[in-house]
Amino acid sequence: MNLVLMGLPGAGKGTQAEKIVEKYDIPHISTGDMFRAAMKDETELGLKAKSFMDKGELVPDEVTIGIVRERLSKDDCEKGFLLDGFPRTVPQAEALENILSDLNKKLDFCINVQVDKEILMERLTGRRICKSCGATYHLVFNPPSKPDTCDRCGGELYQRADDNEATVKNRLEVNIKQSKPLLDFYESKGYLRNINGQQDINKVFVDLDALLSTLK
Ligand code: AP5
Ligand code: ZN
Repeated sequence: MNLVLMGLPGAGKGTQAEKIVEKYDIPHISTGDMFRAAMKDETELGLKAKSFMDKGELVPDEVTIGIVRERLSKDDCEKGFLLDGFPRTVPQAEALENILSDLNKKLDFCINVQVDKEILMERLTGRRICKSCGATYHLVFNPPSKPDTCDRCGGELYQRADDNEATVKNRLEVNIKQSKPLLDFYESKGYLRNINGQQDINKVFVDLDALLSTLK
């Protein structure tokens, strides 16, 4: 299955992506994770991305499109893929159409996880992530059993650099502006499916899973 997972920052894309790729065994392609890995390794791409991510701005389309084209061309995407956080602009969506057509693939669904913008600030500022395995927690909505410690691997939990209030505010503004034309784009192509992201984490996955089982 070839999927795009969309939603505003904090909608639960990463949380649900983890569950989808585990069940359906397809690669999870998150442009945000790719940029953060490049930043950690201090590569040229990482340095370029950092200047935008620190401010909550989008990384320029030409940079982002290039890394997605390269990633989708890898062999493991033959069995399908889950794009998380890409596309985020109409030019990125158009570029994705071209990339997939070059690779003789087509999308099944563009899934939009819908959450009212009012609750996203709390979700993002309360998020904590495991340094070792990348598992995502929330101080209130999905707390670890022991403070600052990952239940899954015992690793230390940290807060993402762009999860402070000022940067979150800008991320939300930037993404809200981009989202309507992008949703219209996928609606007009018939790929768009909306999922209520304002339910319990496991219930959101039940709905997603019901949708994905229609592809089998
Ligand atoms: P990226 O890493 O993609 O971040 P984002 O879109 O801002 O989304 P998040 O990862 O913050 O949220 P999420 O929806 O995954 O939520 P999560 O599941 O963690 O992008 C970061 C930056 O990289 C961008 O700002 C940009 O600079 C750059 N970038 C990336 N892609 C780009 C692109 N295509 N073009 C240009 N630039 C790009 O959940 C959030 C919290 O809520 C967690 O604590 C979780 O436990 C909790 N939670 C999740 N679901 C629920 C629920 N149902 N109920 C209660 N709590 C919940
Ligand atoms: Zn962990």
